Amino acid sequence: MSKIITNNLSLWYGGFQALKKINLAFQEKRITSIIGPSGCGKSTLLRVFNRMNDLIDGVRIEGEVLIDSADILDGDFSDLVKLRKKVGMVFQRPNPFPLSVYENIIFGLKVHHLVEKSEREQIVRESLESVMLWNDLKDKLHRNALGLSLEQKQRLCIARAIAVEPDILLMDEPCSALDPQATLKIEGLMQRLKNDYTIVIVTHNMQQAARASDDAGFMLLGELIEFDRTVEMFTAPKDKRTEDYITGRYG
Ligand SMILES: Nc1ncnc2c1ncn2[C@@H]1O[C@H](COP(=O)(O)OP(=O)(O)OP(=O)(O)O)[C@@H](O)[C@H]1O
Ligand SMILES: [Mg+2]
Repeated sequence: MSKIITNNLSLWYGGFQALKKINLAFQEKRITSIIGPSGCGKSTLLRVFNRMNDLIDGVRIEGEVLIDSADILDGDFSDLVKLRKKVGMVFQRPNPFPLSVYENIIFGLKVHHLVEKSEREQIVRESLESVMLWNDLKDKLHRNALGLSLEQKQRLCIARAIAVEPDILLMDEPCSALDPQATLKIEGLMQRLKNDYTIVIVTHNMQQAARASDDAGFMLLGELIEFDRTVEMFTAPKDKRTEDYITGRYG
């Protein structure tokens, strides 16, 4: 089933068109990677899905973005708080708040008034378990999260994102600050998480896209050039430009 569908999605920063009539569909409970050279619009596209571009001056958007069949760009669509609960995001640089591990995880629960205080402990535990951090951190819940290793910080940010039970997890180059070993661990984690979440990952790492995603989209200068099952795209790309990119001829 399609979880996110875009119809002729275009976006301008002032006079500059960063997304050009993008048509694609992200399938539920699969991992989709978005690849393409720097500046092609990958982060811009991701930010449309939780309307983070709203925060940027001079942005204009046209087209439709259906999430669970509701057009989140429609003038009548008003529940941004609910949208941002449904669509969680993880960034390139792990960005835990300068708070304890525990406070980081319950931050979103507090914002969204989701649970009673008595339930928080269990959610902290479950969130940390789902990113395989519980054993490491169960005795350090009240330590400042800024003291964790880079990889632990990124896991914590994923735990923080999933604590509010989103449906969709957007990951913008989540491993680019990590070493190869930590990267593989995060990829393993993504495979487990896709049982429950629809995951969209932006990556510059072709091996990662090939290993970790079920579907893949290739973008160039604001256009979606090709969208297919990852195996198809990496073994038999239909567009010459896709082939050039994945074989490392540019980008
Ligand atoms: N806030 C902004 N104002 C104006 N132009 C922007 C803004 N953010 C991005 N752009 C431009 O839009 C285009 C797409 O940027 P975007 O960050 O989405 O690319 P990207 O594919 O994520 O690149 P990278 O791989 O380097 O992260 C680029 O040309 C960029 O310069
Ligand atoms: Mg980017």
